[in-house]
Amino acid sequence: MTETLSNTYTNVGNDIQSVRGKYVDNTAHLSTEPKSLTELIELIYQAFATNEVNIDYVHTIMRNYKGNMREWAPYLKFQPNKYTRNLVDAGNGKFNLMILCWAESQGSSIHNHTNSHCFMKCIQGSMIETKYAWPKEGSENEEDAMRVISRSELKEGMVAYIHDSIGLHRVENPSHTDTAVSLHLYVPPYDHCNVFDERTGRTNEANVTFYSIGGQLTANE
Ligand code: SIN
Repeated sequence: MTETLSNTYTNVGNDIQSVRGKYVDNTAHLSTEPKSLTELIELIYQAFATNEVNIDYVHTIMRNYKGNMREWAPYLKFQPNKYTRNLVDAGNGKFNLMILCWAESQGSSIHNHTNSHCFMKCIQGSMIETKYAWPKEGSENEEDAMRVISRSELKEGMVAYIHDSIGLHRVENPSHTDTAVSLHLYVPPYDHCNVFDERTGRTNEANVTFYSIGGQLTANE
């Protein structure tokens, strides 16, 4: 990877700032220090007991959660041709918590998040997140190449946040020798999104599927 990284998540606070205004705090009584994956999941359930999303609180518990390989082992499933999406908890329809496994050099397409909040923590290795502005309506040709807003390294333990009101993104494991693993929380869950061609901004709808659910391979294996 020869390009210079623009920052290391000093902009996360600003990203959240741009969407936080609409939400009320219903989490003041909850712990901010989950000691295990089970405890993190319980806190997320409690945080979403109402239909409000306190994104600062969720960002804090995702950041404070340390976890370990033993907890993640059932969800660590790598494939040579594509990163895998492994559902940890379906959140009673309110959220999806999943572990994504990225083999060497794997990455996602540029995509939106269907108006969901997306929190993403790098739990092993390091990742690059590139954020893009939405393309112009009706983009079809090379003059309409997509504009990069930021390109950031997400080191182990760091949490990123994105929402459609901020823009689009793609995520990569930049290493040619090491795998990477990330923990993703989508609120609310979504089963399709749009993917974008970087050169032209042209878009297509894509279904999102799970490689495993609760540690069991699905039919998408
Ligand atoms: C990402 O690039 O944020 C992962 C996309 C996914 O949920 O598959």
